[in-house]
Amino acid sequence: MGRLDNKIAIVTGGADGIGHAISQAMAREGAKVFVSDIDDAKGSAFVETLRAAGLQAEYVHCDVAEEKDIANLVALAVEKTGRLDILVNNAAIAIGGMPVYEMTDEQWHRLITVNLTSVFRGCKYALPHMIAQKRGSIINMASAQGHIGLDGWTAYAGAKGAVMAMTRQMAVEFGPHNVRVNSISPGTINTPMNEKVIADLGDAVARAWVKMHPIGRIGNPEEVAEAAVYLASDAAGFTTGIDLRVDGGLCVTPRFVPDLL
Ligand SMILES: NC(=O)c1ccc[n+]([C@@H]2O[C@H](COP(=O)([O-])OP(=O)(O)OC[C@H]3O[C@@H](n4cnc5c(N)ncnc54)[C@H](O)[C@@H]3O)[C@@H](O)[C@H]2O)c1
Repeated sequence: MGRLDNKIAIVTGGADGIGHAISQAMAREGAKVFVSDIDDAKGSAFVETLRAAGLQAEYVHCDVAEEKDIANLVALAVEKTGRLDILVNNAAIAIGGMPVYEMTDEQWHRLITVNLTSVFRGCKYALPHMIAQKRGSIINMASAQGHIGLDGWTAYAGAKGAVMAMTRQMAVEFGPHNVRVNSISPGTINTPMNEKVIADLGDAVARAWVKMHPIGRIGNPEEVAEAAVYLASDAAGFTTGIDLRVDGGLCVTPRFVPDLL
């Protein structure tokens, strides 16, 4: 018996990285997963591998910067299955590695649209269904960056801090409808997002990341996925409004953080 048997889940940014691991873990635990992304080739191929393994999954194109795509994603999942139990607002981009005075307004707006407005819209379209069925679990992907300071990531940290504040707000507001809203704050995780940061900023960044985590390494997407499965499952039925840090101790470390820029 799986921990998410018979549940219907949506994961944004599910073709790669943390969203990929969450989709895989949720499908393995018995959920039917609507995997969505902008990378249709990767997303479709991934869903085929899940199906070939006898798991339930569908791929849906969804650019989280587009309100109509999010509305369509939620409508499609509900139309096909009759309900929606789990929404993972995972997709985000990393624009940073620069002081705030070098960031353009265009970069700021792009980051806020993809990383924050997407969370608002995902919740906006999913909540009416969850409220009507008196059951639901929303998981918003935040970041250790929303807790601590690190040179060059002001906008990203601002969006993630707002994701956590919105999570708490919605937990209070929709708890009476048995809709739970939690966030996860990963530390540095081995994903394509970070491969890009290393490519842009150099190997010194990768070495610094290892030093920053008291556990002595960066994390794996599967370790974040395990937290998402827990928060989505009935085992977390009394857990709402939390931010679950999966960060190798990063947020509580008093260690010296080397200059990364
Ligand atoms: N990797 C880390 O160290 C880390 C740390 C803390 C938080 N996070 C958060 O975890 C989440 C996943 O990060 P990741 O490292 O797996 O990222 P990633 O870049 O490795 O993968 C992101 C996925 O999202 C998709 N995507 C990008 N833009 C999209 C859009 N506009 N609409 C839909 N899909 C889109 C990509 O195609 C990709 O499949 C993000 O919210 C990120 O901020 C990551």
